[in-house]
Amino acid sequence: MAETGRRVGIVAGFRTPFVRAGTDFARLDVLELARSVTVELLQRAALDPAQVEHVIYGNVTRPVQYTNIARELVLAAGLPKRTPADTVTLACASAAQAITDAVNLIERGYADVVIAGGVEMLSNVPIALSPPLARALVSASQAKSMGGRLQSFRGLGLADLPPQAPKITETSTGLSMGQSAELMAKLNGISRADQDAWALRSHQTAAAAWDDGRLADEVAPVYVVDNGGRAVTRDNHIRRDTSLEKLGQLKPVFDRSYGTVTAGNSSPLTDGAASVLLMSEAKAAALGYTPKAFVRSYAYAAVDPSEQLLIGPAYAIPLALQRAALELRDIDLVEMHEAFAAQVLSTFQKLESKTFAEDELGRSTPVGTIDREKVNLRGGSIALGHPFGATGARCVITLANEMERQSAGLGLVSVCAAGGVGAAIVLER
Ligand SMILES: CC(C)(COP(=O)(O)OP(=O)(O)OC[C@H]1O[C@@H](n2cnc3c(N)ncnc32)[C@H](O)[C@@H]1OP(=O)(O)O)[C@@H](O)C(=O)NCCC(=O)NCCS
Repeated sequence: MAETGRRVGIVAGFRTPFVRAGTDFARLDVLELARSVTVELLQRAALDPAQVEHVIYGNVTRPVQYTNIARELVLAAGLPKRTPADTVTLACASAAQAITDAVNLIERGYADVVIAGGVEMLSNVPIALSPPLARALVSASQAKSMGGRLQSFRGLGLADLPPQAPKITETSTGLSMGQSAELMAKLNGISRADQDAWALRSHQTAAAAWDDGRLADEVAPVYVVDNGGRAVTRDNHIRRDTSLEKLGQLKPVFDRSYGTVTAGNSSPLTDGAASVLLMSEAKAAALGYTPKAFVRSYAYAAVDPSEQLLIGPAYAIPLALQRAALELRDIDLVEMHEAFAAQVLSTFQKLESKTFAEDELGRSTPVGTIDREKVNLRGGSIALGHPFGATGARCVITLANEMERQSAGLGLVSVCAAGGVGAAIVLER
């Protein structure tokens, strides 16, 4: 709890189905995806939209037409037009950032009711033009005469014409996320067999959580109006028929000769959105809501991207625990974003390592062992998918729901992100 004595509750949260890029949501506008889940949140929580004082939304591959999609969301979802809103980007941890920004607003007493979440539409990423062509087009649009417009295009070559698709590549290292995961697997000695076993578990727990209704409770259908109209109700990447044998047959993608990271033990490119309703404890009580969980602490940390790009959570987790005056052994449930199985297993390894604790964290004992049976009980990003801007909110929603269901006292979310950043959030009940 903050010094202000104001505790922030997770009152409700929903996500859209997470679907592979290029499938069910391929022709949907990114704003419509965010609007759909936010309207569902308001309706299912039976909240008067007039109560919402601020909206914060994560988004990574920013659509050209929406420079601040959070504010567009306010206007599209029928929230009060006087509700301020901002869009945040912290790569895969963007929605975690949106949620902790909301926590800051509420703890300071600047707001009582905030919607935070995120959206990603990898089916429809902004495609950039080459800088010379872009400059020529801007110059042509400003030219006063036809001659001036034509002049703007002088000097352009054929090589300047092809569009440039965005890449999941670190600017400072030139390595893709997958190549970085591959490097981590090698540096930490994470075997192919262990990665595949973790991926299999991700699919099995996700399938089980759909079968027993736990995921149906937190996923709001999206109505797609094109092509005759249909409701998209389920995640579409979970593979019920996968097995260690099938996973073992897949070829490595990011290092074809010596690699261990495959399509099977990586998270897929995904479309999806998630929205969370946060309130101060007092406001929730006044409006008759019982929060599923409260935010106890959070932390961000960053590492040199050229070393182990996705190891940030191994630094953020102990910091968030320290801020909560807790040890890892106190945590009942964990929701860990699975960018790659190699990244999850590397994080476990670092948390268990005395050398890492001494050399990197300045502590004499390891952070601790995470009981695998407490992790990602409704599946992880490998099976469910990973819409960059939304995953942090998906993790918080799932953790809060599972904590409520099990009457668990303490939960931990962790998310790794491009740039070497790690995020961790501690929830309590
Ligand atoms: C890894 C990646 C390149 C794979 O993309 P892809 O080739 O489109 O993946 P697919 O789902 O088509 O899978 C490739 C093959 O493996 C098979 N496969 C994938 N997962 C499988 C599983 N669990 N069990 C059995 N087969 C599986 C597919 O059926 C497909 O087979 P096919 O070629 O015979 O159709 C892509 O998902 C990716 O870039 N992921 C990383 C995203 C990322 O970096 N995120 C940021 C994280 S920080």
